[in-house]
Amino acid sequence: MPADARDAFDRPLRDLRVSVTDRCNFRCVYCMPKEVFGPAFQFLDREELLTYEEIERLARLFVARGVEKIRITGGEPLVRRGLPGLVRRLAAVEGLRDLTLTTNGALLPAQAAPLREAGLRRVTVSLDSLDDAVFRAMNDVDAGVEVVLAGIEAALAAGLGPVKVNAVVRRGLNDHTIVDLARHFHGSGVIVRFIEYMDVGTTNGWALDHVTPAAEIVARIDAVLPLEPADPNYRGEVARRYRYRDGGGEIGVISSITEPFCGDCTRARLSPEGSLYTCLFGANGFDLRALLRAGADDAELSEAIARVWRVREDRYSELRTEATSGLARVEMSHIGG
Ligand code: GTP
Ligand code: 5AD
Ligand code: SF4
Ligand code: SF4
Repeated sequence: MPADARDAFDRPLRDLRVSVTDRCNFRCVYCMPKEVFGPAFQFLDREELLTYEEIERLARLFVARGVEKIRITGGEPLVRRGLPGLVRRLAAVEGLRDLTLTTNGALLPAQAAPLREAGLRRVTVSLDSLDDAVFRAMNDVDAGVEVVLAGIEAALAAGLGPVKVNAVVRRGLNDHTIVDLARHFHGSGVIVRFIEYMDVGTTNGWALDHVTPAAEIVARIDAVLPLEPADPNYRGEVARRYRYRDGGGEIGVISSITEPFCGDCTRARLSPEGSLYTCLFGANGFDLRALLRAGADDAELSEAIARVWRVREDRYSELRTEATSGLARVEMSHIGG
């Protein structure tokens, strides 16, 4: 058995986020602005993508190095053909404790049941506002709120719960609608997590004054639906949890800007073309696909993964300054958040 991998700050490797495509059926203004991701944009070709066989092989090697949880992401993962086939392969990997997926929800009505049947356990659905005009302006493809709500319903009906909802809060766009979003899911069992708008990638025009701090989000909700802090479910949990005092469930806030959480970061990310990134804000990944396709055996691949992790010193969110904001970074739609 290979040893669990530890990085330069002694952080273990526990989570693997696998992006299966760089494409998406939405064009959220904070992620894939149309001016950049328009008709001329060069997405990856099919042969560049890791095959499901290749992803499964790597996943087994990551699990042997300590990974316990895999999240499938994109782009939008449900636009990649035959995704239940990948889920089936990953669900069979021994040693994996959690297998989940992040989606915009639009294709869930058609796919929730086959995904559940293939072994997916739960899903996180992105939904930034319940105000239809606000939501349409944010996804920029005129997808209505009801499309995503139908996706959430389909996930619940298929047994893919508890469902979490991710809402990115961008000041001036949707921050005035956060209380409504919280109220809608209060008492429903669906857990909403409000995410501070982050400077991922280099195309979304991020600025600090676009960020609504998590403390303000909590205060605004607390004023209407009283909250109390709750303990993390596990060490290194990204979201900070708050429970409704009336027993109506919980919310989370993800405060990468105002309260970074790099100290406990156990996440590795695999890009659609098989590069290993050790930080969401990385500029370059390590090309595992090249090794794979050159015929490397499992031991060589496993050693390469451990080597990349061993020298990892990433803590971008803790170091974020004027200077770091000018550095090259992978796009969110490529690496999947
Ligand atoms: P659970 O397993 O349900 O707790 O989910 P999770 O903590 O893995 O959360 P999820 O993958 O849904 O992440 C929510 C969002 O938090 C992501 O979409 C990102 O926007 C942000 N996020 C997740 N991981 C990181 C990270 O390592 N660094 C930063 N800066 N943001 C992250
Ligand atoms: N800041 C914060 N969250 C983001 N997401 C996409 N771009 C950003 C950003 N710049 C979110 C999506 C989705 C998840 C994968 O990441 O809305 O919920
Ligand atoms: Fe697509 Fe998600 Fe990015 Fe929106 S945030 S463009 S749904 S990948
Ligand atoms: Fe992990 Fe990088 Fe996010 Fe810090 S900024 S929590 S190191 S992914």
